[in-house]
Formats: sequence, structure tokens, C-alpha cells
Amino acid sequence: MAPRCDTLWRNARIATMAGPSGLGIVDGGVIAARDGVILHAGPEAEAPAFDAATSIDCEGRWITPGLIDCHTHLVHAGNRAHEFERRLQGASYEEIARAGGGIVSTMKATRAANEDDLVASALPRLDALIAEGATTVEVKSGYGLTTADEIKMLGAARRLEEKRRVRISTTLLGAHALPPEYTGDAERYIDLVCREMIPAVAEAGLADAVDAFCEGIGFTAAQTQRVFDAAKAAGLPVKLHAEQLSNLNGAALAARAGALSADHLEYLNAAGVAAMAEAGTVATLLPGAYYFMRETQLPPIAELRAAGVPIALATDCNPGTSPLTSLLLVMNMGATLFRLTVDECLAAVTRNAARALGLLGQTGTIEAGKSCDLAVWDIERPAELVYRIGFNPLHARIWKGL
Ligand code: NIG
Ligand code: FE
Repeated sequence: MAPRCDTLWRNARIATMAGPSGLGIVDGGVIAARDGVILHAGPEAEAPAFDAATSIDCEGRWITPGLIDCHTHLVHAGNRAHEFERRLQGASYEEIARAGGGIVSTMKATRAANEDDLVASALPRLDALIAEGATTVEVKSGYGLTTADEIKMLGAARRLEEKRRVRISTTLLGAHALPPEYTGDAERYIDLVCREMIPAVAEAGLADAVDAFCEGIGFTAAQTQRVFDAAKAAGLPVKLHAEQLSNLNGAALAARAGALSADHLEYLNAAGVAAMAEAGTVATLLPGAYYFMRETQLPPIAELRAAGVPIALATDCNPGTSPLTSLLLVMNMGATLFRLTVDECLAAVTRNAARALGLLGQTGTIEAGKSCDLAVWDIERPAELVYRIGFNPLHARIWKGL
């Protein structure tokens, strides 16, 4: 008897992204989905004759996994165009931050907003990602910096999943910046994060991971370690903003804590690369922030590649350092600025991005048993997804089989 499926995509060229490297290309391919899950993906010639409720002729189009943005600060109030203008006049990011702007200015706007406001202002940014084939988006808190405001941000992030057909992975970033009411007393703020915020958020089931900003203008390595210990006690995986502006050996600390990813990494050194390789921690590179900050220190790409550290790319969508909502542009920047190959760029927003979220078992490749999250493209070759700037060749986007 012919196996039944809900939808069959036929006559497609598939970049399955399955396997440890490469695109996993299948020519003349079919994908069968049932109940939102991939039942079969492979060459049509070898596929069983499915009894499909709906059969779609892809007319030779390319199909990739739905794209994954594994590092965003998508939920926030207001914007920082005024600070951008000040930076154009010569002020530095650190200067603006130390003068009470930066993350703290977004914190004030975010504290003043309610959950509905936060959902409403995040939706256009989410829609921009979705319009380019994103099916999974990570969203961090970190602009509330009180337990109630961090919970409000994470609640807004979770509600995006009710508003749009997309998977949202949430991350508590309570240790993003020191709120002004704790000036001079970072230890006491970290007490709050560890003793109150992390347990409360974990108890409410509002976060899938815990993140921190280990940096001169953020928190020390010792404070980051305390956050990681509290996350572990609450049963939550960790990730880290590390080595963005300087080297505090954050990536190695994250790797030793079994972090899913260490992110930014412009100032990563050889010991950090080795620790990440050993732990299997993903390097999430954020070329939007590199570009927007006019950074000149490149992350150690060749060393990461040589050590076999999986590389992800993400937008870092945030109002201060990366007001970016395009994974296609991120791939272009990954190639142009960081010299990643086309295969590496595609893996960076699919397979490796899923791994950076601990979701590789569910999504990120086109394989039987995974969620049927697909992007169908009007392109002749995968390189077009990386090569063009400001052009969107998405033909269709499928999330959980629909
Ligand atoms: O990922 N590095 C810290 N956090 C953000 C910046 C946030 C902001 O400036 O509002 C980042 O670049
Ligand atoms: Fe970030």
C-alpha cells in the first residue's frame, strides 16, 4: 500500500544541509510531510509512491531548511537612531553607554512599555525575518533588568509564537547591563539575577536558555560564572556574548560550562578557539554588529574553521549595534566581511544555527523525523542566496508542513 502523506513537494533541488559539512544536495528530489513532520526526503527515483493529499510541483526550484536566526534582541521598545547620529559625529559606543545611553536608554523605553506594546513593536521586525524564509527565531530579554521587566519581555517573546507561524526560542539575558539603580554594585545585581530572576523565569517556563554579556561594559568572567552556575541549578543551558570588544576569556569560560554557543568573538584568542572546539560550542558570528560598529578586528575565522568549531551567523537584531532584520544580508556579510564560503554561510543559518539553540534534533536540516520547516527559492544555484544584496528570491515558506 502506498504510504500516505499530507503534502508532497516534487521536482525540487534540495539542499538538505544534512551531514557534518556541505549542502547535502539532492537533484530531482521529493519531500513528503505528515502531521508537520518530514516523512521522507530524497531523490524522486528512489522514493516510495506516496498517496499525497496535496502534491506540489516545485518546477526545479531550490529548497533549503527554513532559515534560523539564532541571536536576536528582537523584543525591545524604541530605537536609537539619535545615538546613531551622535556616532556619525564621532562619539563612540562605549562613550554613549557610559553617559547613560546605549543599553540603558533602551532599558528605560522597555520598562515604560507594556507586554502588548512590546509584541506590537516586535512584529514588523519578525515579519521582515519571516519574509525571507525564517522559521525559527531566538529572542533575548535584557532590556528590562528587573525580574518583572525581564519576565514581561520573555512573555512578549513567547506571545510572538501565537501571532505568527514561527518557532520562537527565548533566552534570559538578565546580565546584559548594570541597571542604574545598581551603579557601583554589580555583585548585588548579579545576586538578583542568580537568586531571583533565573529561578523565577525557569519556574515560569519562560526561557529556553540563559545568556550574559561578559565585557568591560558588561560583567566580569567571575560574575558570568555565577550566572552560569545559577542557570545550571535551574536546569537551563547557557550561551554568552563573549569577546565582542575585548578579550575576557569569556568563550573559554562558556565552553567549560558546556555552552550551546559563544557569540560575537571578534577578540577570541587561540585558547578560546581550542576550548570551544573541545566542548562543541557553536561560534555564532554577528557580522551586522561588526559592520554597524565599524569594527576592524575580525573574528579568527581560519582558526575556528581549522579547529572544526561549527560556525553560525545571526542578525543580532538590536537597536544599538545591529538594527538588522535580514538573514540574507547576514549571509552576504558573512561571505564578504568574514570570507565564509557559500556552504558555510548556508550552514550558518540552518544546521549550525539550530545547534546553537539546542534544536538540531527538531529543525535545521531536511531529514525524516524533523519538523517540516522549508524555504523554497526562485534561484538557479545556492550561491544566489549569499551573493545578492537587498533582493529576496523567496518563493514559499513552510513551517511545520504548512
Ligand atoms: O549583542 N553586546 C551586547 N548586546 C547587544 C547590544 C545591545 C545594545 O546596544 O542595545 C549586542 O551587540
Ligand atoms: Fe546580542
